[in-house]
Amino acid sequence: MKKSLEQSRSIWMETGEIPQQSSLTEKTSSDVCVVGAGIAGMTTAYLLAREGKSVVVLDDGPIGGGMTGRTTAHLVNALDDRYFELERLHGEEGARLAAASHTAAIDKVEAIVGDEAINCEFERLDGYLFVPPRESQKVLDDELEAAHRVGLIDIEKVERVPWDSFDTGPALRFPRQAQFHPLKYLAGLTKAIHRMGGRIYTQTHANQIEGGKQARIETTGGGVVTADSVVVATNSPVNDLIAIHTKQAAYQTYVIGARIPSGSVTRALYWDTPDPYHYIRIETVGQGAAAYDVLIVGGEDHKTGQQDDANKRFGPLERWTRHRFPMVEEIVYRWSGEVLEPVDGLAFIGPNPLDEENVFIATGDSGNGMTHGTIAGILLTDLILGRENPWEAIYKPSRITLKALPQFAKENLNVAMQYTDLLVAGDVRSMDEIKPGAGAVLSRGLSKVAVYRDPQGQTHELSAVCRHLGCIVNWNTSENTWDCPCHGSRYDALGKVIQGPANSDLVEEKSNGERLTVSKQKSAGISET
Ligand SMILES: Cc1cc2nc3c(=O)[nH]c(=O)nc-3n(C[C@H](O)[C@H](O)[C@H](O)COP(=O)(O)OP(=O)(O)OC[C@H]3O[C@@H](n4cnc5c(N)ncnc54)[C@H](O)[C@@H]3O)c2cc1C
Ligand code: FES
Repeated sequence: MKKSLEQSRSIWMETGEIPQQSSLTEKTSSDVCVVGAGIAGMTTAYLLAREGKSVVVLDDGPIGGGMTGRTTAHLVNALDDRYFELERLHGEEGARLAAASHTAAIDKVEAIVGDEAINCEFERLDGYLFVPPRESQKVLDDELEAAHRVGLIDIEKVERVPWDSFDTGPALRFPRQAQFHPLKYLAGLTKAIHRMGGRIYTQTHANQIEGGKQARIETTGGGVVTADSVVVATNSPVNDLIAIHTKQAAYQTYVIGARIPSGSVTRALYWDTPDPYHYIRIETVGQGAAAYDVLIVGGEDHKTGQQDDANKRFGPLERWTRHRFPMVEEIVYRWSGEVLEPVDGLAFIGPNPLDEENVFIATGDSGNGMTHGTIAGILLTDLILGRENPWEAIYKPSRITLKALPQFAKENLNVAMQYTDLLVAGDVRSMDEIKPGAGAVLSRGLSKVAVYRDPQGQTHELSAVCRHLGCIVNWNTSENTWDCPCHGSRYDALGKVIQGPANSDLVEEKSNGERLTVSKQKSAGISET
């Protein structure tokens, strides 16, 4: 059993089991190698295996150890970025294709759950979009009209969401949304991939990914995969240096799970409209008389690595929840994770820009990564098999959306500002100021050192320079991680990379000024069984 390396744990990690896999230590080959065993990678591997392709999946943690283990798993075609905005950016046809693809993704998950008899609590339910108290309804009216134009004709305006405890005022009702337990779903895909002859290796870090006549993927344990195609589904692509990372921004988002009496809140998905917005669902834990509901509420996003104030995030989230749901008994879960916001609202799925034609990526989830990850599975399967797919152009990773240029400029100016951290003083003047279990950046001459003091009092010194493009990482108190404010790379307290785009660990500082690379080993938040 692999225990969490001091990060928070989601409800799924506590209530789901993921089968343990072995690591890759030898040379092997397959038709397709998929790097990353989250929803995007596992769906792609599953659908390719169904088409008769031999697949090898590599992950440097357990299956589902990335953001798929930290999601809230709303499966929706009610998109975060709003259809009227997608119409502005991609035209009516583009928005129509986006709607169709997310609808098809929910249907695909439902079909897979049925075909493979996956017991993952898949459930169809309504979704409700509402505005904060006293705010204009215009956003709802605009979205209703746009949703009808793009073909979602069942969406309707209702008087209020079905809560007895709080009157939200008018809301949009999106029928036939869905929810599931994401790790139970991945466990089902794992079984199916094995049955079809696919191989999955975990605790296997892909450190070199090269396309060409034969793609070649080298791993830290000495294993090598050669394949006709490679799919990099590492959430943030670790094989792409700049092209994609200037077009999407990484945000940290926070979730609480509140225990409530069974059946006290109508089962549905709920979202409001501020930026950042709140997202709500219900998960039943336990069975029979012992069963209770957990109200899962998320929000309070901020750019990764640019704030370290989790208490100021969880506190308002809890107050917001208790104000609307007085039946809350206690907060039983608190966790956070990262979402990637593409500047034009749609994921990047397809050939990796400026790379060989047999290297594919899936990224840019935009808070709709359950469906975007499933779309990736469908679309990449078609691209690899040489089939046409109507969604290819809207998700093409090399696209430039001219109408999104202001957002592109804003995000990249924000990134440029982060480099001034190289010049300013550190967070603390001396290591003595760092308490056990905490970390901080300090200046040593011209260098910045990331110092972590473990609970036993021993200090661990790392170069604070991110291995992606050299920004200075910041300490994340709630997750015990070093987070990069530029493009969202994250490292555990001892410097092991846990989230791209960086693909290698922070460099260890020795007191005599020499630097060592921390040994490769992935940390993750879930246990394998
Ligand atoms: C709190 C939160 C709530 C969310 N809520 C929703 C929601 O309600 N609905 C929704 O649709 N989306 C939601 N999202 C977004 C969604 O969870 C993600 O977009 C989705 O899980 C991403 O899936 P993925 O497969 O792309 O990445 P991941 O699940 O992160 O998988 C990537 C995998 O790649 C592995 N990896 C990385 N680098 C390497 C390497 N070099 N070698 C080998 N393996 C590597 C990682 O270990 C990881 O397992 C939420 C996200 C968060 C954080
Ligand atoms: S993530 Fe790009 S510099 Fe750190």
